[in-house]
Amino acid sequence: TGMFTYDPGFTSTAACESKITYIDGDKGILLYRGYPIDQLAEHGDFLETCYLLLYGELPTAAQKADFDYRVTRHTMVHDQMNRFFTGFRRDAHPMSIMVGCVGALSAFYHDSTDISDPHQRMIASMRMIAKMPTLAAMAYKYSIGQPFVYPQNDLDYTSNFLRMCFAVPAEEYKVNPVLARALDRIFILHADHEQNASTSTVRLAGSSGANPFACIAAGIACLWGPAHGGANEAALKMLEEIGTPDRIPEYIAKAKDKNDPFRLMGFGHRVYKNYDPRARIMQKTTHEVLNELGIKDDPLLDVAMELEQIALKDEYFIEKKLYPNIDFYSGITLKAMGFPTSMFTVLFALARTVGWIAQWSEMIEDPSQRIGRPRQLYTGAPQRDYVTVAQRG
Ligand code: CMC
Repeated sequence: TGMFTYDPGFTSTAACESKITYIDGDKGILLYRGYPIDQLAEHGDFLETCYLLLYGELPTAAQKADFDYRVTRHTMVHDQMNRFFTGFRRDAHPMSIMVGCVGALSAFYHDSTDISDPHQRMIASMRMIAKMPTLAAMAYKYSIGQPFVYPQNDLDYTSNFLRMCFAVPAEEYKVNPVLARALDRIFILHADHEQNASTSTVRLAGSSGANPFACIAAGIACLWGPAHGGANEAALKMLEEIGTPDRIPEYIAKAKDKNDPFRLMGFGHRVYKNYDPRARIMQKTTHEVLNELGIKDDPLLDVAMELEQIALKDEYFIEKKLYPNIDFYSGITLKAMGFPTSMFTVLFALARTVGWIAQWSEMIEDPSQRIGRPRQLYTGAPQRDYVTVAQRG
């Protein structure tokens, strides 16, 4: 019709201005508020990254202490949240539980409905960042039939989360600082990625003025898909299915076969046409974690490294500029830490929550943002007259 630009998948549409995250996909660069991801991952911590994404600057020592304290104060969830969990089957996918329970938070914090008040927006942000680890750990504990473990707020954010997942009542639990640091780094890597599908979902949901907890639940729903956050789970399943390096060529052939829907999970990216900078750091972290746990030979890691080498030399992957993305190595790391495959995307959601919240706040504060309302090219039937059932024969 010529009236609208047809852009399926929004490959060439910028729907907003943003000051939060910068990606140069050709060069493989990722910056949060101007800071390179590798520097943040190496020297910073996750809560500091949260502060940076939300406020635009790294915190001073006093600001950091205050922020950590404020987030920590909100880690508990209302006792009645337990009932939401127990309503689910034990074998429910934890992402389905997260969609439901995070959405349910909107029913607990009515004050957050007033999104025109910056103070309320900030409290909602704190609550979201603080409660995600608690809810994620509850989803895990529920799935294995163990009682919930309350947050212990003298621990740092990520250690607290590990404890809520892996401590068992009446047994001593000590957080392994190397694993806590590694997981914290994984959270930093996942914290934001500009206008990806789930973030755009949160912005679109929020553009109507909806409750922020409900908007985040929409983001979690979108993240769940295997083309997006679900890829970490799918990548590990793929590596397990391949099993041994000798079967790699068979899978490479399947991935290249246009009549076969199979894709190499953890490979390729809409924006990165170069090595995903997060994948590099993730690979290093994988080795660190396996080392710490004394895992000398992980067959999955062998398959992953060999698969990467073969794919990077293969004409198909070179021509299409398909490189490992963040999800290629994250599964191996999380599995070694003790997380079941079904929790991988939940961990992604936990970390991405700050990005969703920061982008949502930026949108609310941007006077040029209106309700998101894409147009379409109508290709259906032209106008026609109703015929009764009797006449339809
Ligand atoms: N294996 C084999 N072929 C692939 C792959 C892959 N993993 N990814 C893309 N291709 C091919 C695709 O078949 C297409 O070929 P052709 O031009 O002949 O039709 C070409 O490369 C371009 O792919 P596309 O589907 O048009 O690219 P897209 O930008 O729409 O999709 C993607 C990007 C990430 C969904 C896709 O690369 C993919 O499905 N990868 C596997 C899933 C995955 O790892 N997702 C995680 C992404 S990073 C974290 C996140 O976003 O949550």
